[in-house]
Amino acid sequence: MEIIFATHNKNKLKEVQSLVPANIKVISLDDLNMTTEIPETGHALADNALIKARTIFELYKKPVIADDTGLEVTVLNGAPGVYSARYAGEPSNAENNMNLLLENLEGKADRSAHFKTVIAYINAEGKEQLFEGRVDGEIIAERRGGEGFGYDPVFLPTGYAATFAEMPLEEKNQISHRARALRAFSEFINKV
Ligand code: IMP
Repeated sequence: MEIIFATHNKNKLKEVQSLVPANIKVISLDDLNMTTEIPETGHALADNALIKARTIFELYKKPVIADDTGLEVTVLNGAPGVYSARYAGEPSNAENNMNLLLENLEGKADRSAHFKTVIAYINAEGKEQLFEGRVDGEIIAERRGGEGFGYDPVFLPTGYAATFAEMPLEEKNQISHRARALRAFSEFINKV
């Protein structure tokens, strides 16, 4: 069985391939020579995941998964959320995003936050399903660590002394929002 993963990101592709059963071949948009970006116009993570999955399903009529991720900060009512990539405006810039986040949290006692990933799956018959993964933590006041990407230097997962940017990638990949959503999906697909 082949599943299209609606991504151009090679690291994500590898992560998914390593989590699904060996009889499932995961192919990316690059493998299909699809270069167009699918606009993420939704106002919720699930909307964007579904928009991407539906766009690809309509084109290829094959099983497809698509993901969308955001950082949700309690005291900011879930912001930056679905707008995490462009929190400080276009073009997407991780340093500016972190600066704005730290500025907006100045003087706030509650710094709790979580990353959330939503995966949309559409099977060969067009049936849609959503899977979610989440990791809780807090936003610390200054950056720590040089690994990872995005908000990793300011995200301290609950129960750990290291930020996501201080952890080896393999360790982050064990506990991350994306890994958890992927595991939920692969547990499901393993049973099908
Ligand atoms: P995407 O949906 O995976 O493209 O993620 C959207 C945005 O959320 C990224 O541009 C990052 O700003 C942020 N993000 C997603 N995953 C992570 C992560 O694992 N660490 C830090 N930031 C992340």
